[in-house]
Amino acid sequence: MVTVQDIATPRLQNYLEFVRDPIRFFTRVQPLGDMISLKTGISPTFVVNSPEAIREILVRQDQSFIKGRTTTVLQRTVGEGLLTTESERHATQKKYIQPAFYKDVMERYAYAIIDETEKVVELLEHEQEVDIHTVMMRLTLSIITRTMFSTDVSAEEKKLADAVTTTIEQSVKILFSPVMIPASVPTTANLKHKEAIQTLEAMIDDVLAAAKEHPEWFKDSLLGMMMAVTDEDGNSLSDKEVRDQMMTMLLAGHETTANLLGWIIAEIAGHPIVEKRLLEELTTAKLTGNPFNWMRELPYTQQIIEEGLRLYPPAWLIYRELDEPVEMFGRSFKKGSTFMICPYAVHRNEKVFPNPELFDPDRFAVGNKYSPFSYFPFGGGSRSCIGSRFAMLEATLILKVLYKNFSLRNIRHHGPVPEPLISLRIKNGWPMEVEKRRY
Ligand code: HEM
Repeated sequence: MVTVQDIATPRLQNYLEFVRDPIRFFTRVQPLGDMISLKTGISPTFVVNSPEAIREILVRQDQSFIKGRTTTVLQRTVGEGLLTTESERHATQKKYIQPAFYKDVMERYAYAIIDETEKVVELLEHEQEVDIHTVMMRLTLSIITRTMFSTDVSAEEKKLADAVTTTIEQSVKILFSPVMIPASVPTTANLKHKEAIQTLEAMIDDVLAAAKEHPEWFKDSLLGMMMAVTDEDGNSLSDKEVRDQMMTMLLAGHETTANLLGWIIAEIAGHPIVEKRLLEELTTAKLTGNPFNWMRELPYTQQIIEEGLRLYPPAWLIYRELDEPVEMFGRSFKKGSTFMICPYAVHRNEKVFPNPELFDPDRFAVGNKYSPFSYFPFGGGSRSCIGSRFAMLEATLILKVLYKNFSLRNIRHHGPVPEPLISLRIKNGWPMEVEKRRY
């Protein structure tokens, strides 16, 4: 049975701790109990730690919850796409987007992922030192635009990657700010945010115009699929809806995987035995047929990714608000109650993951299973990540192509520090030395 306890520390102290360093705050609160009330008065706020309580919120009673404040903030950038709509509208959108992640489509994406990574390999041949965060951001941006929109953004990669970064940074500032200044107020931050959104929308509008002129060029991508959607009355999706979904995919499907890979590559560099085993697997595995199936042939690579997702879950915070009163765990919760679920902290429960700070891919060796919601990097229930298999495929193929060609070394003497934005990033980037492998 889930128990709900009040936090012992004063409200102001909790608030200041949360604002200064949310990761540290949630990690401190994780061992305190199943569900912790932050005693926030009229709008009750809870930190949810126990897998059972997480399942209740994300799965069993998910119809009673909405994404609330996170949606309001993200809508400024992505409009009303899959990430930010609720109930029936969300279900309708999911139905027409899901086919973009079917196996036969992913088999096509696999070749594009390899091809884009090989372009990065060519660039790295001429580099001795790189910021791995920047490299991964550009790579995943080119992969998401090519697979989802059949578009090559290489000419504008830097401009677009910078615009994505600005929107993410501005969104998180608004999310954690005690007062939400409306987007229409011309503050410096709002103007910067608006400019970044316009840059991304300009790219999307160009792609949309090209797709209308030459639908045959786009038929294999999510964009092509969306353009072919019609409702019972034969109406197509509006341009705004298509544009909102494209913005959604751009934001949800690019920085998350880039951040994950940055963390994993930094950890591999700190664990030579992991790198040795990875390389052994990459050189001995029989990788034939469609690269989508290589995931099966690279179990240790999967373990590395799963351990990366445990320690550095890109979606480090899942946020829910009650849309109606509910009964859970023998008590009543009123409409508007807020629930914060922090996979970063829950994945560090030492009863489930002994020595939790240690990067140890063997935790995910074949046969090791963890109970539902003690490990949930892609969320759960009706709002779980639609791109989870895409992300696993992408991470696997990128690691495969990269480590066959290079070894990457950490340069800094201290470990990477997390920066919890919309997704969990390495603070101030992560410079690495690039060493070409000689066979
Ligand atoms: C390592 C990479 C990724 C991680 C860890 C991740 C994690 C998550 C999580 C935890 C959620 C649920 C959030 C919530 O419940 O509030 C989510 C939702 C979502 N993700 Fe991902 N994601 C990743 C990559 C991707 C990719 C590559 C795409 C698209 C190609 C994508 C698209 C989405 C979308 C559209 C949603 C909203 C789904 C819905 O509400 O129905 N994600 N993601």
